Amino acid sequence: MSISKDVLKVQPSATLAMSAKTKALIAKGVDVINLSIGEPDFTTPEPIKRAAIDAIESGKASFYTPAGGLPELKQAICDRIQLEDGVTYTPDQVIVTDGAKFSLFLIFQVILNAGEDVLLPEPFWVSYAEQVHLAGGNAIAVPTTGKDHKVTVADLEAAITPTTQALVINSPQNPSGLIYEAAELKAIGDWAVAHDITIIADDIYSNLIFNGHEFTSIVTLGEAIKQHTLLVSGVSKTYSMTGWRIGYVLGDAKTIKIMNTVASHATGNPAAVSQYAAIAALTGDQKEAQAMRAAFEDRLNTIYPKIAALPGFDLPTKPQGAFYLFPNVKKAVQLCGFASTEDFVEALLTQAHVAVVSGKAFSQPDHIRLSYANSKENLLKAYERINQFMQDHMQ
Ligand SMILES: Cc1ncc(COP(=O)(O)O)c(C=O)c1O
Repeated sequence: MSISKDVLKVQPSATLAMSAKTKALIAKGVDVINLSIGEPDFTTPEPIKRAAIDAIESGKASFYTPAGGLPELKQAICDRIQLEDGVTYTPDQVIVTDGAKFSLFLIFQVILNAGEDVLLPEPFWVSYAEQVHLAGGNAIAVPTTGKDHKVTVADLEAAITPTTQALVINSPQNPSGLIYEAAELKAIGDWAVAHDITIIADDIYSNLIFNGHEFTSIVTLGEAIKQHTLLVSGVSKTYSMTGWRIGYVLGDAKTIKIMNTVASHATGNPAAVSQYAAIAALTGDQKEAQAMRAAFEDRLNTIYPKIAALPGFDLPTKPQGAFYLFPNVKKAVQLCGFASTEDFVEALLTQAHVAVVSGKAFSQPDHIRLSYANSKENLLKAYERINQFMQDHMQ
């Protein structure tokens, strides 16, 4: 059977691959602590589950919905962003998709012509580059010189090409957990507007902000920036709803309408039952979402100082959002005599029984990503295992 040459170039998701490897070991009975996954470990709050069950029982979840989502859900998304960020969108500026991952996929399909470039500040989430490739575009990795892995206008100036079409900004960032400050975003936004570049703002972690830090969405920084931005978010991380697959894009009505047309031929519509659950999540009491956020904050405060103090682990800035730590482990790898970060990660899994992801998946091969979406007890156990592993291997 013949396979498209372009598709054969696409790499499997490294985070999902690590997760699968870990789950296979666990299935064999090995006691692995899994810090490789990018999803909250809580189950979806009861009122959201109840809304889904009601939608099934009443029969309303039985049918196709509009391709771009139920009008009530689009309204709920507009209301929530108005409340949280003070920014106004109307339902014709919203499309609901099968997770934010498909929002991003759809964006690249719609905005890119073959051979056009998308700027991806390093480190970047594993799927952006492959999604750009699948849309026929070029992913341009942008080395970052700003504080804490953040891209500056000078970095963007150095990377821009005549065919640059878009720029992805992810804050809080996966994998580093760092947040862009308003002034940093404003400079980037003004630069993108001046070059007529579409900003893809991946705000999926915007509700997981810790220790009094503040989140700013780039769309709040002026009308011109807002008009140049496609804002991506979803319910997966805030409401512990990764399995339900509901994400969304907010942007100018014309682009959203075209995305709608493409989606109508691709997915039809996101699962109706998940859409009813998302309405309950966005319009209901936020108490449980806030409690989950507080739990992540507590875990960060517990585990960060310990991981940062491990020999050869370089993690000078405490993350401010999301649920990841992204230390540079170059020295640790050397201290233990491994040839590469990947060998170190493999040994952590098979010998210390702690699963993490190599930074190569995020274009920073000297780093590893540890997710703290796990119980405090497991996080402390994982720390003890890594510490013991280091003591055993250090030469
Ligand atoms: C940075 C980033 N963007 C988007 C997504 C996609 O989220 P979902 O498809 O679950 O809505 C993820 C999930 O891991 C992510 O880390």
